[in-house]
Amino acid sequence: MSYSPCLDRFGRRINYLRLSVTDHCNLRCAYCSRMQRDFIPHREILRYEEHLELIAAARRLGVDKVRLTGGEPFARKDFLPFLTGVMEKFPELDLRLTTNGTLIPEKMQQLKDIGLSRLNISLDTLDRQRYARLCGRDLFSEVWRSIENGLDAGLGIKINVVAMRGVNDDELGAFLDLARRYPLDVRFIEFMPLTDNGTWDRSRVWSAGEILAEAKEYVELTPVSESKPNSGPARMYQLNTGLGRLGVISPLTEHFCATCNRFRITSDGRLRTCLFSNREYRLRPILRSQKLGLEQVVRVMRMAARQKPMGHEILRQRCAVDPGGRTMAAIGG
Ligand code: 5AD
Ligand code: SF4
Repeated sequence: MSYSPCLDRFGRRINYLRLSVTDHCNLRCAYCSRMQRDFIPHREILRYEEHLELIAAARRLGVDKVRLTGGEPFARKDFLPFLTGVMEKFPELDLRLTTNGTLIPEKMQQLKDIGLSRLNISLDTLDRQRYARLCGRDLFSEVWRSIENGLDAGLGIKINVVAMRGVNDDELGAFLDLARRYPLDVRFIEFMPLTDNGTWDRSRVWSAGEILAEAKEYVELTPVSESKPNSGPARMYQLNTGLGRLGVISPLTEHFCATCNRFRITSDGRLRTCLFSNREYRLRPILRSQKLGLEQVVRVMRMAARQKPMGHEILRQRCAVDPGGRTMAAIGG
């Protein structure tokens, strides 16, 4: 198979695909739910074989890192066998996973055994009651067991916390304590305007700069060098007296569009080149057509990459007006 690197018009090399396998989720996180819940009809959701084809097409563009997301990926039937299949078919791929951790406390060893090395778990609060209020279900203990079992199994664990003023900004100390006691990464992500349900408001933004300044009142931090792999857009800090690390991801206050290397494909097979652009390229009809096929998918991906925008321009406009478009569960986190 021939690999040719995929450069966009700003010279960015697109080598990272985030692939959503479902728009369904067993939670209803406030910042992710829409006013109207309109799920994608089942027949429009890609079959697992089609996801494998998309990964093969992306490989042809030089994509070497794939993150499987949802909604909640484990909410889709047979996700674990699919994951095993991806591992077997693309052993050289850097495969990642983002999950809410509620459905998998007993699956951690299995995930490790099939070759997964690390896992991103979304967790915005360490308080059980607050979790139930924020995410719509009382499943904090399940997430916590996933974290403990994941660490026991030797998986690298990153915890993603959506940073929200007035919601979880009183928990910085508790999260830092977690990073002190356990060898894991706690990463705060600035709250992005991705819903139409009124939860996003400028005053709810708890910025990366504010988080870091506050964190330094609790702990001493040493920046982890930029060249360290695996941190993506996160700025990482080692806790001087602790096992874990703190990270901040600042899509709002310090956009990282200039180094963005990613594609997203929604669970119904639409390619998006930027989280903040609603422009989509429909790959499903090409995949399902008798006449077209993988070559054409590769061609469209390459063409789409060339059109990849600098998303902060779009974001600036969106923050000035009403947030709209699809949520993370629909786009794929
Ligand atoms: N702002 C910031 N992060 C978000 N996520 C979902 N919606 C938002 C939002 N509006 C996070 C999830 C998950 C990751 C994939 O994206 O919590 O950790
Ligand atoms: Fe589900 Fe993640 Fe959306 Fe929460 S943020 S509802 S866990 S997809």
